[in-house]
Amino acid sequence: MHWLTSLLILLPCCYALPQRNHSPKYVRRAFTKFHIVPDVIPSFNPVATLDVIFKDQSTGKHVHVAPGKNLTVKQTETIPQFLLKTENTSLFDGPFVIALVDPDAPKPQDPKNSPFRHMLGGDFRVKQDDGKLVNGSVALTEFAPPSPPDGSDPHR
Ligand SMILES: *[C@@H]1O[C@H](CO)[C@@H](O)[C@H](O)[C@H]1NC(C)=O
Ligand SMILES: *[C@@H]1O[C@H](CO)[C@@H](O)[C@H](O)[C@H]1NC(C)=O
Ligand SMILES: *[C@@H]1O[C@H](CO)[C@@H](O)[C@H](O)[C@H]1NC(C)=O
Repeated sequence: MHWLTSLLILLPCCYALPQRNHSPKYVRRAFTKFHIVPDVIPSFNPVATLDVIFKDQSTGKHVHVAPGKNLTVKQTETIPQFLLKTENTSLFDGPFVIALVDPDAPKPQDPKNSPFRHMLGGDFRVKQDDGKLVNGSVALTEFAPPSPPDGSDPHR
């Protein structure tokens, strides 16, 4: 079973997005291409990119989220790490809100529960040189892993 999660960081007035080695411009185009804009958010103007790293529970390997990349249920079982990728250190203090949303729940053929909230947490800041985002308070919605029904097409 394949699974593609949509993940976004929300700033008060602008958005940053999960991506690795891609420019904010590339990610912005991908959001339009996969209709995340306007299905989930009306517009999107990222100021930085976000590396979202899951740990595959069956192999122990790290899996980086990327637009158009398929992730399995096993790969998305536990809360990922979030790394802010930017040269602009004035963004480090945030604070950021992280929202993980599924625009195709329970399945793309019939997205009646969309958008489904998989996580909503605030108070994230970059605390270390590696760009890792660390939260200072509990999430509003704790991470809930994807659990698509059998026969579901890949989700965005
Ligand atoms: C993801 O899975 C879908 C359906 O199995 C397939 O059509 C698509 O090509 C896959 N994407 C990648 C990047 O492998
Ligand atoms: C860095 O981020 C700050 C805060 O968002 C912004 O005001 C500033 O314009 C940015 N600097 C550059 C060079 O993008
Ligand atoms: C940060 O978020 C995680 C996941 O929601 C939570 O388990 C943890 O307690 C939070 N950290 C703090 C300091 O509240």
